[in-house]
Amino acid sequence: MTSTQPTRLDAAHFDTKARQWDENPVFQERGRKIAEAIRKTAPLRRGMSALDYGCGTGLLSFPLKDELGAILMADSSSGMLEVVNEKIAAQGVGNMATMKLDLLVDPPPTQRFDLIVTAMTLHHVPDTNPILRIFHDLLQPGGYLCIADLDKEDGSFHGPEIDVHHGFDRADLGLRAANAGFAAVQFQTVFSIAKARETGTRDYPVFLMTARRTNL
Ligand SMILES: C[S@@+](CC[C@H](N)C(=O)[O-])C[C@H]1O[C@@H](n2cnc3c(N)ncnc32)[C@H](O)[C@@H]1O
Repeated sequence: MTSTQPTRLDAAHFDTKARQWDENPVFQERGRKIAEAIRKTAPLRRGMSALDYGCGTGLLSFPLKDELGAILMADSSSGMLEVVNEKIAAQGVGNMATMKLDLLVDPPPTQRFDLIVTAMTLHHVPDTNPILRIFHDLLQPGGYLCIADLDKEDGSFHGPEIDVHHGFDRADLGLRAANAGFAAVQFQTVFSIAKARETGTRDYPVFLMTARRTNL
């Protein structure tokens, strides 16, 4: 009997999805809901520099752009960044720039940020501990980290053929964030994704973890 190895959704995969990404109303609503929760949790201001890691087409950061200063939109998929660049140009956005970036292989940006946001990206990153440490290094003291992702699930969200993290256990992620140097780690549920399954409709909750870099 042959068994097929699960495949990782790489940058080439997301390149093929980029053009249609914004046509999905669930993705749109998810971005708005996560943005709303971030707005209520972190004191956003026009002087704040932000990094959106795994920004996709920018569905999280576009709703926040008028409440922040410079926003660096980073993603490993050039297809996603192409769409972001077109949206920036079409909307005449003055405070967003894009960067092709995979923090597991590329050198991190040299600048420091007041806020790092990342939505539905961490479950695609094989080794998340180094990323948490890099996020910590990239933040200014007092800076905020906001991670939105799936709660721990049984693997049915993507299916057995896809190699991703099956969501995250909040206590475990919180502990790993603390080990990376973060303080004031908090979780809330911000959205729920309904998917049709053989057994009926199933809901997959999405959490927002917020944490702060406190030390110098
Ligand atoms: C599920 S999409 C989410 C996109 C967007 N944040 C949203 O909420 O609509 C995951 C995104 O993470 C990006 N991504 C996956 N692995 C990455 C990595 N190692 N470094 C940077 N971006 C990555 C993908 O290219 C994709 O744009």
